[in-house]
Amino acid sequence: MREDDIRKHLTTETFGRVIYPFDVLDSTNTRAKEYALARAPEGTLVVADEQTAGRGRMGRSWHSEKGKNLIFSLILRPRISPQMIGMLSLWSSVAITRALSTSFSFPVACKWPNDIQVRRKKCCGILSECIFEGRQLAAAVVGIGLNVNQTEFPDDLRTLATSLAVESGGNVDRCELLGKILREMEEGYANIQSGSFEGILEEWISRSPMMGKPVTVRQQERSIQGIASRLAPDGGLILTTDGKEIKILAGDVKVVA
Ligand code: BTN
Repeated sequence: MREDDIRKHLTTETFGRVIYPFDVLDSTNTRAKEYALARAPEGTLVVADEQTAGRGRMGRSWHSEKGKNLIFSLILRPRISPQMIGMLSLWSSVAITRALSTSFSFPVACKWPNDIQVRRKKCCGILSECIFEGRQLAAAVVGIGLNVNQTEFPDDLRTLATSLAVESGGNVDRCELLGKILREMEEGYANIQSGSFEGILEEWISRSPMMGKPVTVRQQERSIQGIASRLAPDGGLILTTDGKEIKILAGDVKVVA
C-alpha cells in the first residue's frame, strides 16, 4: 500500500498521521514496539503488505496472503491502568465492527476476546501488546490483521477463516477501508482516554451473539464449559458454570452448537 493512497482516505487528527509503510516486514507489531520505545507519537501507523513472522494470540502465527489484506499496528499511549489493557482489544473490535457494518450488508460479529467474525468464520484478529516503564503502562501497540481480498486459505484455515471479498463477492479498496477503520478507532479512543469503558462494553455485547450462550473455553492447560454470562468491568469474560461465576482473561471460546 502506498503512503499517498492511504493519506487520500484519512479523516483523522492523530491516528495514521505518521505512517511507516512497508512492502514486507517480520511483524508490524514488533516494528511498532520498536518505534514506540523510540518515542514515536501516539497514532503512529505501521502498515505492511506482507509479514514474514506475523504473530497471533497465544504464541500462534498469523497467516496473510501478500498484498491482499490489511495488516497494521497502531502505537497508543493510553492513560489506563495495566489491569484494563483488555479494553484495548474490545474497543478496537467495536470500532472495526462499526466500520465494516457501515460498509457491508453481511452480519459482522465480535467474538471474545479479540476476533471479528462473519457467519461464524474469522475475518479479523487483534493482538494488543504493552510496553511498561516499571509498573506503568508507557505505550501499547494494537495490531490488526483483517482478511480483505484474500479468497483462498490454507487447508488448516479453510473452514475457519473468511474475508470481506468472499462475503461480499467483490474486491474491496483496502486504503479506503483503512481510513474508515482509523476514523472509528480515533472516535472511540476518547472513551479509553477518559476511562469511560461502560459504553464500549455495552456496544461490544450488543455486537456479540455468543453472549448468553453455552460455550467451551479452551486454555493452554484446561477446557471449561459454561454460559457466557457477561463481561467484567475490565473486559474479562464471566462464565457461569455449576452455579458459580468465574472470570476468564484468556482463551479460545467456542459456542456449543
Ligand atoms: C489473533 O487473532 O491471534 C491476533 C492476530 C493479529 C495479527 C496482526 S497482523 C498485524 C499485527 N502484526 C502482527 O504480527 N500481528 C498483528
